[in-house]
Amino acid sequence: MISPQKLLHKWDKDHSLPMNLLTANKLSHTFETNLFHDVSFELKAQESIAIIGLSGSGKSTLLHILSTLLTPNEGSVSLFGKDISTMKNKELSKIKRDDLGLVFQQHYLFKGFSSKENLEVAAMLSNQSIDDELLKRLNIYETKEQKVTQLSGGQQQRLSIARVLTKKPKILFVDEPTGNLDNITSKEVKKILFEYLKEYNAGMILVTHNEEFAMDCDKVYCLEDKELRPIK
Ligand SMILES: Nc1ncnc2c1ncn2[C@@H]1O[C@H](COP(=O)(O)OP(=O)(O)OP(=O)(O)O)[C@@H](O)[C@H]1O
Ligand SMILES: [Mg+2]
Repeated sequence: MISPQKLLHKWDKDHSLPMNLLTANKLSHTFETNLFHDVSFELKAQESIAIIGLSGSGKSTLLHILSTLLTPNEGSVSLFGKDISTMKNKELSKIKRDDLGLVFQQHYLFKGFSSKENLEVAAMLSNQSIDDELLKRLNIYETKEQKVTQLSGGQQQRLSIARVLTKKPKILFVDEPTGNLDNITSKEVKKILFEYLKEYNAGMILVTHNEEFAMDCDKVYCLEDKELRPIK
């Protein structure tokens, strides 16, 4: 059978296959109590989907499930047309490494390393190069030689975004990317992410409390009363 990766590359070339980047099918998850049930939706190329909702409603948990970090109690997630629960570890690891870009609330940066070293790891793993223009636009070019521990919260956040985009992933999972940022920087981050989707034919699932950013996405869902309700 043709692998999801090959299928994706073929699809990238001719665009004749109507393929979802991601399909969520009747997802349900419970920690202490049930957070949500029956969550279903689709993400297509160049599409941005925002998920909003009260703090503690389960948005990050849902993002962890969608990005393969957490197994849902019920339901399934398909990436590039294939249910991830049926994938072999190797296949899933390759997709995670090459095609998924995760920007989460806790920045998983290598703390003892400099900004540049953090970017180099991403560039090396994915055979890409560091984009200095991107760093300049994110206003972190000057921090290249600084250690991560010497960066402000907002600088770390922008470095996480730069590191993820360096990989050139097909699906971005972004949790509160503008949480620590001022208005002007937030707008620039938003612009960079939307431009990235167009340029690389990628899709994005964004969790945010920033209503303006959410409403600029193609679709908006609200996680409320344990359900994911479409509001745009
Ligand atoms: N690993 C875990 N084990 C147990 N409970 C958890 C775990 N992760 C999250 N929770 C609980 O699940 C609920 C939803 O958490 P989640 O982080 O998904 O919320 P959120 O909507 O992202 O909130 P916020 O907007 O504050 O980021 C919370 O009550 C949280 O305490
Ligand atoms: Mg959260």
